[in-house]
Amino acid sequence: MMRKSTIGTALATLVVLGGAGPAALAQPQSAPQSGVVFRNTVTGEPLNVSEGKEGGRDTPAVKKFFQTGENIYIDDKSCLRNGESLFATSCSGCHGHLAEGKLGPGLNDNYWTYPSNTTDVGLFSTIFGGANGMMGPHNENLTPDEMLQTIAWIRHLYTGPKQDAVWLNDEQKKSYTPYKQGEVIPKDAKGQCKPLEE
Ligand code: HEC
Repeated sequence: MMRKSTIGTALATLVVLGGAGPAALAQPQSAPQSGVVFRNTVTGEPLNVSEGKEGGRDTPAVKKFFQTGENIYIDDKSCLRNGESLFATSCSGCHGHLAEGKLGPGLNDNYWTYPSNTTDVGLFSTIFGGANGMMGPHNENLTPDEMLQTIAWIRHLYTGPKQDAVWLNDEQKKSYTPYKQGEVIPKDAKGQCKPLEE
């Protein structure tokens, strides 16, 4: 009896994990009424986005993101400039300067251990709540607004096939150009993000 039900549970787990394409594994987009529900990338436990580093929660971008899951910093040069520096400080040591992979997996190609990371809600959840092993939660050293800037930069570093860039809408796909090594974003780039405080 025991044995049978254990196998049954294992099978059910396999079906959930194995049978799912990107759509099925994607983070749930919204709860009834009040915006996006963020879930831990590995456990699926709900994340409390009011916890962690103070500030960076009442910006128009974060409010919009928490409501709709849309990251309005994608392709905004002023946010990319900041995102580059945030990524360099918090992520590149493990993921590589160009997110090409090092101790942690590459984030600039179309292979994802967790397909939920192909949505910005999924990527935010991984940064906020962490994943396995060395990939700890980053909600103590980045505010949600800084995470959105970091996400914009990670999406900018992507060099995989355009059709797999599911985080871009049709309009953004038209203007998408893959990152070129050596590309420099001007320090005074105009846009929605103020320069980071030194
Ligand atoms: C101490 C090293 C370390 C740091 C720092 C780190 N990561 Fe990771 N990261 C890892 C490892 C190792 C994994 C693999 C974990 C797993 O598979 O569950 C990972 C996994 C990930 C994944 C999942 C990738 C996939 O294929 O689904 C994402 C996304 C990610 N990291 C983003 C980031 C971002 C963004 C930062 C900076 C805010 C960061 N990481 C900082 C080590 C690190």
